[in-house]
Amino acid sequence: MTILVTGGAGFIGSHFARLKVKQQKRVVVLDKLTYAGNLENLDEITKDSSKSQYFKFCKGDICDRPLVEKIVKEEKVNVIVNFAADSHVDRSIMNADSFIDTDIKGTYILLEAAKENNIEKFIQISTDEVYGSIESGSFKESDVLHPRNPYSASKAGAELLTNAYWVTHKVPVIITRSCNNYGPNQYPEKLMSLFVTNAIEDKALPVYGDGKQIRDWLHVEDNCAAVDFLLENGKQGEVYNISAGNECTNIEITNIILDELKKPKSLIKNVEDRVGHDRRYSIDCSKLRSLGWKPGINHEDGIRSTIKWYVENQDWWSKIKTGEFLKYYEEQYDNRTTNLSSFA
Ligand code: NAD
Ligand code: DAU
Repeated sequence: MTILVTGGAGFIGSHFARLKVKQQKRVVVLDKLTYAGNLENLDEITKDSSKSQYFKFCKGDICDRPLVEKIVKEEKVNVIVNFAADSHVDRSIMNADSFIDTDIKGTYILLEAAKENNIEKFIQISTDEVYGSIESGSFKESDVLHPRNPYSASKAGAELLTNAYWVTHKVPVIITRSCNNYGPNQYPEKLMSLFVTNAIEDKALPVYGDGKQIRDWLHVEDNCAAVDFLLENGKQGEVYNISAGNECTNIEITNIILDELKKPKSLIKNVEDRVGHDRRYSIDCSKLRSLGWKPGINHEDGIRSTIKWYVENQDWWSKIKTGEFLKYYEEQYDNRTTNLSSFA
């Protein structure tokens, strides 16, 4: 069996590629290596000859139809797991072009290749953001999609296409909607990775608005284990929420990070809110759990070990947080009313 893992040099995709290679499954990663793609995330495979024999890396764009066709045919791909996406909400608010290209058109190209080449399984990695915000209760898979930012709208578009290829062409798809992931190797622009690395560097932690927005946190390895479980046990044409039920406000997460790193609360800077900020995400994971899956990582242990990873792997993130990253960071906060000097 050969699994095509798109976006496999990114945060979640690289953890999934590592998991499958550890199981001695043949993995081909197709990744464009955008700002978020990082070959170092695959070192564990590529620097170990006992693992690299199961692995191939192709640099390329999932929107490149001839390339995707060639890889699927020549590598005899049986399974596609589509992690490739532009994934950061703030970037989609500044410019959504690449979100529409990759998240929607790229998914379409992959679905076409799956249709033409009798792919046995196609997993579309989606997100809980497609439901939009919920004040109380939790979304079930049957609930209506109500995405509210360009990123989540592009992911919802991809989902609708994926479902259409199941209904129309019987491409054997499964869609996963996971909540917020955290863990090692997350590009330091997301709440957890940005705040941990900023705190280590004694830089400000920019909390949007009142900081009482709620996210549901899941360790990346638990998400990958759930996707792997669904490869074996998921039903074609179905959607599965993935969550461990760890809802926290952003300010709670911020305080946990500062306490763990023994850094002062004065690093917290309240800045202007994200435009159209979703207040709360919450999903009901009982459908997946009824199949026998459960998360393996305790929330407190997961956060503690993640913080430790960033402390011990400064090499990995410090070179990212220069050049292009700083340009993006300044551009983003230039657009807010807060004095930029707070971020020095
Ligand atoms: P990421 O931004 O860390 O990685 C994305 C990867 O996709 C990068 O390696 C990038 O180079 C690659 N890529 C981007 N455009 C591409 C293209 N056109 N062709 C080929 N490769 C391309 O993202 P992530 O956080 O690892 O998220 C992975 C997937 O999981 C995404 O589909 C995202 O929507 C979804 N998701 C993420 C989270 C989360 O909390 N991070 C939660 C739920 C769902
Ligand atoms: O829910 C799943 C989604 O989680 C994924 O689909 C997305 O790919 C992923 O980026 C993530 O989206 P969020 O917008 O929830 O994640 P982010 O880390 O950007 O923000 C988490 C919360 O923290 C959100 O309420 C905004 C807030 N925040 C974020 C940043 C980067 C801040 O207060 N300050 C910040 O600097």
